[in-house]
Amino acid sequence: MAVVRIPAEDVVLEETSAITAFLAAHGIDYEQWAPDRPVAEDATAETLLAAYGQEIERLKARGGYRTADVIDVRPETPNLDAMLAKFSREHWHDEDEVRFIIEGRGLFHVHPPEGPVFAIEVEAGDLIRVPRGTHHWFDLCADRRIRAIRLFQDASGWTPRYTDSGVDQGFQPVCLGPSYVPPAARV
Ligand SMILES: [Fe+2]
Repeated sequence: MAVVRIPAEDVVLEETSAITAFLAAHGIDYEQWAPDRPVAEDATAETLLAAYGQEIERLKARGGYRTADVIDVRPETPNLDAMLAKFSREHWHDEDEVRFIIEGRGLFHVHPPEGPVFAIEVEAGDLIRVPRGTHHWFDLCADRRIRAIRLFQDASGWTPRYTDSGVDQGFQPVCLGPSYVPPAARV
């Protein structure tokens, strides 16, 4: 399940209802999905897309998404640092950023027009839809692993447009999940 943090207000949201309501107020959809049938850990992309077919079709109809694919990122993925660097600076897109997490975790930071920056940590089972134009950036967690279904209205619109605000510099890409070590416990 996702975790939302608002660092400037020292707030952490861990209840699904609180997370859903907070994100909805910022135009961000959050859902938790379960597959139609059990899916093996090494399932192919085709199997995954079929297993979540009902949810994908529902979302396509609602958001005008035309295509869906599966992205698979591991620590050994070639040019991983260069790939991640494209998205860890504040940017926005001409289309929605829609991700359903199959495995691994990730950290979105969102910079709303009014109000403080907040972080959304997502893990397996989490669906997030960040509307087009939303200022945000993305990092992997320390395990540098994510497998996710992506939906696109038009994949060509999914180019990062950088704000060059530098706001991202003020936030640590630190996740709170299993690999998180509190500062006091670090040696
Ligand atoms: Fe993005």
